[in-house]
Amino acid sequence: MKNLIYITSIVLLIVISSCYYDSEEYLYGTPGGNCADTTVITYAAGVQPVLNQNCYSCHSNGSAASMGGNVKLQDYADVKTVALNEKLSGTISHASGFSPMPKGSNKLNDCYITVIKKWIAAGALNN
Ligand code: HEC
Repeated sequence: MKNLIYITSIVLLIVISSCYYDSEEYLYGTPGGNCADTTVITYAAGVQPVLNQNCYSCHSNGSAASMGGNVKLQDYADVKTVALNEKLSGTISHASGFSPMPKGSNKLNDCYITVIKKWIAAGALNN
């Protein structure tokens, strides 16, 4: 009986610790943003964290002039502009005619691209 309890707890430990590595960061590989639920998408939870993690090194208010072709993506109003003129979705999905972003890095995971596109399609709201 003692052995059974011992084995059961080892098995439980293995199961629990393997679940830990199922977190979104390990599954999707692009830190920042909430990709777990693409039905509820907001600027604050779904879009801004992805831009923060993947784009602000060149597109923050401070870095845009020297690193990001003077394109700012830190303030909502600036993000809304590139969202509505289609440059945001064009660049992150590497569509032809757009400069592929993030520049010099891997394309964002599809999940994050979907979140951003859905946010744009819903009107690029400041939500
Ligand atoms: C290593 C620096 C760097 C990173 C990181 C980066 N960009 Fe850029 N981005 C640039 C530069 C430089 C330009 C100016 C155009 C060019 O040189 O391609 C630019 C231009 C843009 C433009 C305007 C494109 C146009 O046609 O006018 C958008 C939109 C954009 N970036 C979005 C993003 C997004 C979204 C991310 C993050 C997913 C990102 N960038 C990450 C450097 C970067």
